[in-house]
Formats: sequence, C-alpha cells, structure tokens
Amino acid sequence: MTNRDVQLRRAAENEILKQKETVESDPYRQKYHHMPPVGLMNDPNGLIQWKGTYHFFYQWMPFETAHGAKFWGHYTSNDLIHWKHENIALTPSEVFDQGGVYSGSAVIHNDQLHLFYTGNIDGEQKPETEYQCLAISEDGVTFEKKGIVIETPAGYTAHFRDPKVWKEDQIWYMVVGAQSEDLQGNVLLFSSNDLRNWVMVGPIAGSKQGGLGEFGCMWECPDLFELDGKDLLIVCPQGLEADGMNYANTYQSGYFAGELNKEEGKFSHGHFQELDRGFEFYAPQTMIDEKGRRLLVGWMGVPDQYEQAHPTVENHWIHCMTIPRELKWDGKKIIQAPVPELKEMRGPVLMHSSVTIKNDQKAVRGVQGRAIELNLEFDELEDQFAIELFQYASLSYKDDVLTLSRPHLEDKSKTEFRRVLLDRDLKNLRLFIDHSSLEVFVNEGEEVFTSRIYPQPNEEHILFTSLGATTFSVEKWGLSGYQYR
Ligand code: FRU
Repeated sequence: MTNRDVQLRRAAENEILKQKETVESDPYRQKYHHMPPVGLMNDPNGLIQWKGTYHFFYQWMPFETAHGAKFWGHYTSNDLIHWKHENIALTPSEVFDQGGVYSGSAVIHNDQLHLFYTGNIDGEQKPETEYQCLAISEDGVTFEKKGIVIETPAGYTAHFRDPKVWKEDQIWYMVVGAQSEDLQGNVLLFSSNDLRNWVMVGPIAGSKQGGLGEFGCMWECPDLFELDGKDLLIVCPQGLEADGMNYANTYQSGYFAGELNKEEGKFSHGHFQELDRGFEFYAPQTMIDEKGRRLLVGWMGVPDQYEQAHPTVENHWIHCMTIPRELKWDGKKIIQAPVPELKEMRGPVLMHSSVTIKNDQKAVRGVQGRAIELNLEFDELEDQFAIELFQYASLSYKDDVLTLSRPHLEDKSKTEFRRVLLDRDLKNLRLFIDHSSLEVFVNEGEEVFTSRIYPQPNEEHILFTSLGATTFSVEKWGLSGYQYR
C-alpha cells in the first residue's frame, strides 16, 4: 500500500463517518438496493462468485455526489440477501489511475481474484489517457495493483475503457469500449494466454460498422457472452438521438444478438435492442454464477441526466444498483427475471383474486407500502388500465403501449414519460418497490422499467384505474430488505 493509497482510504472512511447520520436519516434511503455509504455510486464492477461468495464491486466517489476520481467499493454475500460491506477495494492512488479507478471486471486465475479496470488520467472535459490495468487478490478483499496491461491502440482516442474479461477454450478474451479517431463508438476485442500480454484482435462492432449507420460517438461498458446458444453484446452507446419511444434517456443501454467469430474478430449481429425502458438504467454488468446462471446488475442512474436533481443529493448520497436479475434468451430477446433468492425477503402474502374494476379508480385492501413486491396477473383487460403509485408515478396501459410517468425530476411543473410498445397483450406485471425506486417486470420480464421515484416519504397509497373492465389478481408481499453485517 502506498502512502497515497493510505491517505485516500482514510479520507474516504472519514467522509463515511462524517456523513453517516445524514445519509442514514434520509427517508429515501433504500431497504434492499445497494446504495453508497456516502457520495456517488455508479457502475457495478467485477461481479463474480468465487468459492461460494458473490463479489459486487462498484464505482464510487466518496467525497461528492458528483463524478470524479472513482474508487472501487466492495460488497460480498453468500446468498444475495445477506451482505457485507468490505473494505475499499481500490483507490485512485497511482500515476496511471489518479483520475479514477474506472469500471472493469473480475476473473479467477491460479486461485487468485484478478480485477481488470480502467486507469483514468483526467484531462479537461475528457480523459487525457485511459489504460487497462490489473489488480490481484489472494483473499478476495485486499488487492495488489500490477499496473497497466493495455495502452490505447493506434487509431483510437483516449476514450478507451471498461474491460470485460472471460475465458473460452483456454484463451482469455477482453472487450473494451472505445472511440475511433473519427469519433465513432466501438467495441475492441483483445486476447491473451496469460492475462498479462494482450493482443488486439480488432474492433468487433461499432457505429458505422456491421450494417449500422451512425450509432453513437462512444460505446461504454461492453459485455459479451453466450446465452442459450446466442452471442450477446451488451453495450452503452452515447450520442443516439431519441427516436419515437426509443432512446429516451440521455445515454442508452442495450444489446446486439449475433455470432462472434473470435479468430477473425467478426461479430455479425442484428439490431440494437434496449434492455430497459425506465428513467434510470445504465452500465449493467453480467456474471455467470456457480449455479451456471447469467446474472445481471445495472446502475440505477444515467450519466449527465439531471443527476443533481435527485433529492438525496442534499443528504450527501446519490444513486443505487438494481436488484440482481437472471437472464434468458428466448430466441428474439433477452428476458430478465428477479433472482429467486429475493423471495427470502418476503413477509406473508396478501392475495386478492378476481378483482374487477370497471370505469373506476380503486384501492385494493392492503395493497400498499414502500418496500414491497406486487404481482399482478390479468384475466381480462378490456380497454385501459393504470396503477397510480403514491400520488407520484403512474404506470398505464393503452393500445399495447405501457407508459411510466413521473414528475420531471428537474422541472417539477412538467411530467416526464417513458414508453414501450409490447409484443403481446399485457398479462403480467411484477413490481419491486423500494423507498425511492421502482422496477417493473412486464410479461415475465420481456420488458423492464427501472426508475428512481421520490414520492412523499410517508405516502403509501396505490390506486388502480380501469376504463372498460379489468379483472386481475394481485399478490403483495412486504419485503424485509437486505441484511447487512
Ligand atoms: C459509465 C462510465 C464508464 C466509466 C465509469 C466511470 O457510467 O462512464 O464508462 O468507466 O462510468 O465512473
């Protein structure tokens, strides 16, 4: 540990203590979503299960509710419900990462945990340089930095970050987000036999490549994996124009499905599909766990999207993570389902079957609360249906379009909307509500809306509205929340 490292750790720990009471008294504090102990949390990093333990690292700026020289914070769990907040994993202590220990991933090799991350050196308005770096751990909680493993290749700008590493047929592969010198977003593929020496295979996808037109000036946080026989490239393109119901957030997060030829460095793929339809979702990362499941966690935030308008800022923290979701490929789409472990948090079920509402708005007895899960199954939906949450957000369905609205975070006199056209009739909605967030899984996870919500802290009412007749069953569980030790 260098002096600088020791100083940074101490300063961050002091900041946690200094703001602890304020952060913990915030009514918008989450019950079962990871949030930072203080400051700003962004991307999930280094997701891995090792010897039974799940490791979740995250981008963290302890000193401000703004972006800056990031640290890697660290949570561990054996069951995805009981969590331990570990010591800080990485600080921006070295010359090659002084602007931030930016996003990256984890793999196990020779019984050691290897973290690949981006060392950022900050310039004015943009990075001056970004390197891919390595840190290694024997015990999973203390890390030794090994320095730079890849420098920016010729033909690309300093936007070169977010390494995601995996192994296939005894070879290591890495995808990195990049920007070409003509300012197009790209994903670069590298390979290695030993995790130290890396060779660039080439750009495998990008704006103005593989049949795409202009498709963004920078692609962040790539993740490439095989799922149920398909190669899927998750990526976050920046610079797409809003297009009807699509690309409504400041930056996007979605995927291409196709076939990867690793030798030739070619990824033939279809069109870009968004992973989420809500207001806050970005930079997701996936992992394969020891049960063989492909799990995903996303950041419940979007860079540069009126971040300072979140009311938690005044209590010295901002943003959180999504719940972990299991991914499946249905032949056309990624399907997302909350991991079954979350059922452990449920209290007793409250259930109403065959509730009919016709041209009316009603509460359903007992269906209320702020840390709850709701499951709705529709038997009949004649015309229009809506759920009003806490006199704040509304989820409404009309003509196959599902719309989420909330007061505009920045300009409260306005309402903002996010929408999706469903492939089939609305059959099922599963809602995970926390004190300041909402995740809606539509038709068994064919679509998802992830958003922060800031209703009055004590407001717990939920109302159901129907034009024409709607008949549905509803189950509700109070959720006990994550247990921290
Ligand atoms: C995505 C991102 C990454 C970067 C990290 C820095 O949100 O911009 O590209 O590594 O955040 O915190």
